Amino acid sequence: MTKTCVITGATSGLGRATAVMLAGQGGDLILVGRNQALGERVAALCRRRNPGARAEFLRADLSSQADVRALAAAISARRGHIDVLINNAGARYDTYGESPEGIERTFAGNHLGHFLLTHLLLPQLALATPGRVVTVGSVAHAGADLTRGWVQRGEGYDRRVAYANSKLANIVFARELAARTDPARVTSNAVDPGIVFSRFARNNGLKSWLKHVMAHAIRRELISTRAGADTIVYLTSAAALSLTGRYLRKRMESSPSSLAIDPEIGLQLWNLSLNLTGVRTQ
Ligand SMILES: NC(=O)c1ccc[n+]([C@@H]2O[C@H](COP(=O)([O-])OP(=O)(O)OC[C@H]3O[C@@H](n4cnc5c(N)ncnc54)[C@H](OP(=O)(O)O)[C@@H]3O)[C@@H](O)[C@H]2O)c1
Repeated sequence: MTKTCVITGATSGLGRATAVMLAGQGGDLILVGRNQALGERVAALCRRRNPGARAEFLRADLSSQADVRALAAAISARRGHIDVLINNAGARYDTYGESPEGIERTFAGNHLGHFLLTHLLLPQLALATPGRVVTVGSVAHAGADLTRGWVQRGEGYDRRVAYANSKLANIVFARELAARTDPARVTSNAVDPGIVFSRFARNNGLKSWLKHVMAHAIRRELISTRAGADTIVYLTSAAALSLTGRYLRKRMESSPSSLAIDPEIGLQLWNLSLNLTGVRTQ
């Protein structure tokens, strides 16, 4: 049966690879990203890869809550139900910056945008029985440091901590959503894709990207985007239908850091995210 899938960050890397793999299965894809030209190219590639697949691109910056609200409205106007939402978009920034709402951009884009988008799409996801939410985390979450809170301020900005905190937030969010949602309606899992050869860090310039790639290449850690996307695609399959609240790496359950499974941390992130996005839950 054709699956309707929304994939954020589909213009490059893991999101692009996931889109092409799901197109191969005949998916009905809504691709999301910031770059219209690139997004349309990936949508065309998906349609070429499988003429039976449907793919269209919608532009949105996940760090802008206005963009995310407009995106959710556009998706809801186009599709009655959504089978899978893949919260994949993510970036690390070498310098401090803020979202239009004045929130540090790593946390705003990597976590808050997905928190908001997921909540806005929950009614459509629940119609899929169950709808699935797959959120892309990272092994980098282990470097999170919450001593100065979840969200960094301009002074003393540390790009690694900002990124690690946002990835911890992805994993905690996936778990909390599962705990708060009837699994017959919506399931929620997180993925550690491994260290992937992609355009990650390219936004900071060629030198920064090369440094990032070389550091991992020397340690022989880099895998292809297709290999990294395998677990994401697996979570959309029939075999993974009943999984919820899990953190998966290479299709197997993996153990995140102790912070990621701390219920107090979960409650703290949930309340902060509600507060910063204005989401209301019953
Ligand atoms: N690369 C790795 O080794 C690795 C390891 C673990 C986890 N991850 C995670 O995997 C996910 C995908 O990363 P990747 O390696 O595939 O990197 P990538 O090639 O840079 O792709 C990232 C995608 O996210 C999009 N994106 C970033 N910020 C966005 C925003 N605010 N709004 C909309 N789209 C945004 C990018 O679009 P633009 O072209 O507009 O920037 C791009 O399409 C991220 O969540 C990352 O944290 C990556």
